[in-house]
Amino acid sequence: MVHAPAKEAIPLLTPHKMGQLELSHRMVLAPLTRCRSYGHVPQPHAAVYYSQRATNGGLLIAEATVISPTAQGYPDTPGIYTQQQIEAWKPIVDAVHRKGALFFLQIWHVGRVSTTDFQPNGQAPISSTDKQITPDDSGMVYSKPRRLRTDEIPQIVDDFRRAARNAIEAGFDGVEIHGAHGYLLEQFMKDSANDRTDEYGGSLENRCRFAVEVIDAVAAEVGAHRVGIRLSPFDNYMDCFDSNPVALGSYMVQQLNKHPGFLYCHMVEPRMTSSKNGGRSPMPPAIQEAVQWDFHRCWRV
Ligand SMILES: Cc1cc2nc3c(=O)[nH]c(=O)nc-3n(C[C@H](O)[C@H](O)[C@H](O)COP(=O)(O)O)c2cc1C
Repeated sequence: MVHAPAKEAIPLLTPHKMGQLELSHRMVLAPLTRCRSYGHVPQPHAAVYYSQRATNGGLLIAEATVISPTAQGYPDTPGIYTQQQIEAWKPIVDAVHRKGALFFLQIWHVGRVSTTDFQPNGQAPISSTDKQITPDDSGMVYSKPRRLRTDEIPQIVDDFRRAARNAIEAGFDGVEIHGAHGYLLEQFMKDSANDRTDEYGGSLENRCRFAVEVIDAVAAEVGAHRVGIRLSPFDNYMDCFDSNPVALGSYMVQQLNKHPGFLYCHMVEPRMTSSKNGGRSPMPPAIQEAVQWDFHRCWRV
């Protein structure tokens, strides 16, 4: 009698316990900006889009969603700072939950990756700096930003905290703080874009202070078990790069580890396509080694 060979489990399809969440497989939908939330309000068609991608026990991360009116930098990206936006997210979240999937919202402030056209009263976008993103050959020109005053930073931290609370009110299972891709938090973290002389600039600890305050505030508001973060220390997207990405990434992971039960760190490999670097570059071996951090909830994408 011939026995059929034992079926080998496909690792991606095996269950995974992530904090208190029971995932039935390990394929996660990455956050993807769609620019279809007219008037910055999520639309009913998003319920169809996300539920099509939902599986029983799977995890989806919704597109980057802005925390305040100054956080906008792209047309028709959704927000999570008005009651109308919260109400509009609810049926979308319900549709995903009906399929048995978990749903996180990525919360976002673009900082200087914006133009005066997107800003309230046509004001300058805000940033760590007043240095404009160097225009490249894509033809896109971002406006010269206004450097945030030190006393304005607590308000932005609070906007992240409220956005996280609103996401939970809308029914999301948790939030992913967007700390990657050259947006506001990275503009503070990376030394190419942070030329401040206050306690939010200079040393690595100072440059990370704003991001750490956001992490602390969001974790205190909704519980660390419902919070993840996306980081891209090795990327140079949007003119944002660091002279020591290994030290930056390691420091940030240490800060996350101060929160028992912090859910995950979503780590981006240095392979974003841009017209500046001509495409994807492989992760250098030294960096590959460095990302083997002592952080077991770290994913790399
Ligand atoms: C159209 C598009 C929209 C994206 N939107 C987001 C976003 O909202 N938030 C984010 O963190 N990354 C965003 N990304 C980056 C993706 O999540 C992902 O990291 C990137 O596409 C690399 O993965 P891939 O090689 O599978 O495409 C976006 C990428 C694309 C192509």
